Amino acid sequence: MSGPAPPIASPESLPHHVAITMDGNGRWAAARGLTRSTGHEAGLVPVRLCVEECSELGVEALTLFAFSSENWSRPAEEVASLMGLFLSAIDREVDELDRKGVRLRIIGNRQALSVRLQARIASAEQRTAANRGLKLQLAVSYGGRWDIVQAARKLAGECASGRLRPDEIDERRFAGALELADLPDADLLIRTGGERRISNFLLWNLAYAELYFSERLWPDFDRAELTRALQFFAGRERRFGLTGGQLQAPHLPVSQ
Ligand code: FPP
Repeated sequence: MSGPAPPIASPESLPHHVAITMDGNGRWAAARGLTRSTGHEAGLVPVRLCVEECSELGVEALTLFAFSSENWSRPAEEVASLMGLFLSAIDREVDELDRKGVRLRIIGNRQALSVRLQARIASAEQRTAANRGLKLQLAVSYGGRWDIVQAARKLAGECASGRLRPDEIDERRFAGALELADLPDADLLIRTGGERRISNFLLWNLAYAELYFSERLWPDFDRAELTRALQFFAGRERRFGLTGGQLQAPHLPVSQ
């Protein structure tokens, strides 16, 4: 990426919900002869930066893909060091998050996490639950397919117990059973590390997201690159299936 960062997007053109796939820690570390774990630790710096910047700009929600359902298949040593990093980062950062008014939540299959990590997560979530600032979600042991399946299972349970009729299941109700039920859809997905894939991140919630792929490796992701992503978003025409003409005359009734 080159050139100075463009000016920050105006508040009206900011995304409501930014999702980030933080890719490239391993390559960043390898290029410096460091361990992969060191690369993950270095990845905490842009995490702080994004939280700070999104908080200050007034972005409603930020969801970070920290560990996928598939990441459990990585070498045991790397998995252990990532779990240790999540534990220590939550402990270390919770005061500052709370001070900034950030509400922290972990999404994903938390039963797969150690009891100790689950307890720390529960306590950090409780501590920040009433905060009214940035809604920060860390996706840990998360997969978009897992999320859809757990929602389907929840609704099937309600049908089986007679509390819900199958014909009452529509998109709104289905979305209400997903992990991010209370949040608007992600409207901007940023993925670093040069890959152009969704990789089983928020499959349902990304339906209309604008996609920003950055060549930067995650530890090198900085304020200027975040600004570029926001500027990219601000320049998009978001059509949601409508025509450009319909968008320019929003007072006219929209036919199906
Ligand atoms: C992907 O890069 C990154 C991960 C699997 C871990 C992401 C975790 C962090 C950035 C730490 C954040 C911690 C908190 C508490 C939010 P990769 O390892 O796949 O990189 P590579 O593609 O270069 O190998």
